[in-house]
Amino acid sequence: MKSDLYSERMKEVRPSAIRELLKLGADPDVISFGGGYPDPNLFPTDQLSRVYAHVLKEQGKQALQYTISEGLPALREKLVKRMERVGVTCGLDNLFLLQGSQQGLDLVAKMLLNPGDVVITENPTFLGALVAFNAYQPNYASVSMDEDGMIMDELETVLKANPRAKIIYTVPTFQNPTGVTMSLARRKRLVALANQYDVIILEDDPYREIRYEGEPLPSIKSLDTEGRVIHLGSFSKILSPGMRLGWVIAEHELAEKLCLLKMAADTQNSTLNMYAANLFLERYDIDEHITRIQNVYRKKKQIMLDAFNTYLPKSVHYTNPQGGLFTWLTLPETVDTTKLMKEHVLPEANVAYVPGATFYPLHQEINHCRFNYSCMSEEKIVKGIAAFGQILQNYC
Ligand SMILES: Cc1ncc(COP(=O)(O)O)c(C=O)c1O
Repeated sequence: MKSDLYSERMKEVRPSAIRELLKLGADPDVISFGGGYPDPNLFPTDQLSRVYAHVLKEQGKQALQYTISEGLPALREKLVKRMERVGVTCGLDNLFLLQGSQQGLDLVAKMLLNPGDVVITENPTFLGALVAFNAYQPNYASVSMDEDGMIMDELETVLKANPRAKIIYTVPTFQNPTGVTMSLARRKRLVALANQYDVIILEDDPYREIRYEGEPLPSIKSLDTEGRVIHLGSFSKILSPGMRLGWVIAEHELAEKLCLLKMAADTQNSTLNMYAANLFLERYDIDEHITRIQNVYRKKKQIMLDAFNTYLPKSVHYTNPQGGLFTWLTLPETVDTTKLMKEHVLPEANVAYVPGATFYPLHQEINHCRFNYSCMSEEKIVKGIAAFGQILQNYC
């Protein structure tokens, strides 16, 4: 093979050590809090099987055909209306469908980043975003968070210090990995700072509808005054991740350019899946379905936090999310959660989580971990946390 076979960008594309560790967690005997999957028992499989059967029988010719890259207009119209309900005013020209919001992370980075441009992220941030951005060779700057999300004074300092900043990437609602939500005051300040320093905000908001406590907050896109917020939404957590349906909302010119990239990448989303999602929304009440999801996750979150309270040493702190799928644990500073999982938690307790170090774009903090509560049964949550707590007694 040629020594220069791979492009420069492939230097930044590498498997993470965490993937290897989580493969061990896939053993059915392991109680894994590591994945980020929704509870599969909540997928509306009966309804979807009726919907797919109907689409194939009645609209098969269109549903199995190519369609436009923006995606099925009827489905986009429904999304425009749904977004209107939460204060985002957009037209069909501003919204198109993606293969999950993950595709939006890739396309936005492809559209905006030259090597060395700066992406500002929350610290910690969503690993999948770093994986998508890395291929475009950015530099990162990160901003600390507290219980109200990204700290805006620090963001301003970072913006001043980084004239090549192009994107501020945020997961403002029930963030992956911490479960933290950005307050309204900070959302407003974020928009003001982005205007002042002329950067794009990439709002990645797949968990917004999985709120089971507290009052909803306006999306950052709804506060956008200059068309500089690109919003990503997803059906993955409210319907099914396997259908690979997400969407992007952006100002017209940005949306047009993004759609050209979408066309180059994959032509379009699956026509069949778009027809099915559209008919699902026509026939069934998705809000009722989302309420069912919220009820299950509210209970599971509480079971996990109660188990933390009962079984974990008091030196361990954790977030109390009002929605989403994750809570974030902070152990004493000397405890390396990667080593702890590999050497003790997995082999001795048969429990897996995601060590926190993987979520830091720059300087890894070793003493955190992400726990998912959506996927395991209530019994396994208690059993797994009890076993994890037993191990921690020796290290915390
Ligand atoms: C913050 C965040 N963004 C994007 C995604 C990707 O979701 P999807 O591509 O399934 O819409 C995820 C998935 O877990 C996520 O947590």
